[in-house]
This record gives sequence, C-alpha cells and structure tokens, in this order.
Amino acid sequence: MNEVIDTILNHRSIRHFEDKPLTTEQIKTIVTCAQAAATSSFIQAYSIIGVKDKEKKKRLAELAGNQEYVAINGHFFVFCADLYRHTIIGEQEQKDVTLSLESTEKFMVALIDTALAAQNAAIAAESMGLGICYIGGLRNHLDEVKTMLKTPERVIPLFGLAVGYPTKITEKKPRLPFEHIYHEDEYEQNQDVYREQLHEYDRLISSYYYKRTNGKRQDRWTEQIANMLTKQNRMYMKEFVQKNKLNLK
Ligand SMILES: Cc1cc2nc3c(=O)[nH]c(=O)nc-3n(C[C@H](O)[C@H](O)[C@H](O)COP(=O)(O)O)c2cc1C
Repeated sequence: MNEVIDTILNHRSIRHFEDKPLTTEQIKTIVTCAQAAATSSFIQAYSIIGVKDKEKKKRLAELAGNQEYVAINGHFFVFCADLYRHTIIGEQEQKDVTLSLESTEKFMVALIDTALAAQNAAIAAESMGLGICYIGGLRNHLDEVKTMLKTPERVIPLFGLAVGYPTKITEKKPRLPFEHIYHEDEYEQNQDVYREQLHEYDRLISSYYYKRTNGKRQDRWTEQIANMLTKQNRMYMKEFVQKNKLNLK
C-alpha cells in the first residue's frame, strides 16, 4: 500500500526497551507530530510532559502497577488533557470562560484532542523504527502523579507513552472483524449477527493466546473483557476530575 499504512498496520505494543535515551531531535519530531493532529475548534487542549528524571520514572513505574517499561525506555511522555491555558486566556482577554471550561463538552473536547495528539506521536515514533506502549496505569494513583508532575488545576494526566528501542517484539494482536466495527448507513443491531461475529473473534483470539503462550493461555476475548468489566476500577475518577474544576456542568 504505502509506508504510512504499513506502519499503522504493523502496530503492536512494546513492553521491553533498551535503556537508551532518545535524542532531543527524536523527541522534538515526536512532539511536533503530536501537535500536527487536528484539534477541536483549534483549542489545543493538551500538554505533554517528558519525564527524564530516573527516580521519577521509577516511581511512576511503581504507581502504574510495577510496569518496568515505564522506567526503562528511550523516553517517557505523559499526555495530559489541559484547559489550564484557557483559564489564563480568559483572564488575559477579560472574558468569562468559566462555565465553558467546566462543561462536560469541553472536558470531552480535551480528552479527544489529547488522544488524537498521542496517536500521532505513537505513529511518528513507530515510523522511526521505535516501539511504543501506552500507559493508562498512571491513572491508578493520579493524586501522586499530579503532585509529582506539578500539574495545575484543569490539567489531568491521562496516560503515559513509553517510547524506545524494542528488545522484544510480540506478535500482532488481531482486531475485531471489520464487519463488526464498520456499519453502513445505520447501526447493525441484529444480535444474531453480532453474537456470531464475536464467536468467530473468540476463536481467533483463543488461538492467538495459545500460540503466544505455548498453550498456557487460551482466553476468549469476550471472557477477558467481561472479567475486566466486572472489576470496579479507578472509581475515584469523577471526584478527581471535578476537584480539578472540569466536567462540572
Ligand atoms: C489509553 C491506553 C492505555 C493503556 N495502558 C496500558 C498499560 O498501562 N500497560 C500496558 O502494558 N499496556 C497498556 N495499553 C496497551 C493495550 O493493552 C494494548 O494496546 C492492547 O492490548 C492491544 O494490543 P496492541 O497494542 O499490541 O495491539 C494501553 C493502551 C491504551 C490505548
């Protein structure tokens, strides 16, 4: 097809990196690509914090549930939804922007902007021959992450992105069937179709795990996801977000 599509289709998360820092130029390219993403109404509602300090990275690895690759990688980026600069803009321009900044809509805009920027960064890094792993584990202990990174009000660290030179490359994880994800003209609600597609996908994922673990794992996708969804996870999030003066209205 073309190199961009090859890069995108070749994605897999990397969880083992060389302890070799990216160059300043590599970091700049990755961040500049993140910033090139489309942004709702040109709002640019995110910030990216590069964590270089080894002690901080070690602590972040612990906070993220002892994920070693948060500490050992080429560079660790933290992607934050950010409406702090917009608070300042309101003051500077002497306009009342508070209602808007506290709305669910603007919170969603900031989340969307941040995710789009991060995925641009991820693809840029992968196109440079580097590996990446998103780290949502940062949200396990957001209070401490926020204190460590000194993020002001209306800034929420959403996830990390570990980038670096891979030392171990896993197999690509198969995705849901195309027909299950892509609907035309209207949402396909036929449950028989849905169930059959999920069944087909379960067989595929089961054999993927079987091969990847030499027969130790054989989980079905629906089983894995249902188990995950039975666990209550990070239930403090609403309070955390609202304490940071977001998603209030
Ligand atoms: C927002 C986000 C957070 C994630 N958090 C973690 C994480 O904390 N640790 C981890 O090992 N993988 C994490 N992942 C990676 C997913 O587990 C991975 O993308 C998924 O299993 C699909 O596998 P693949 O990326 O290899 O295709 C995260 C992915 C996303 C998008």
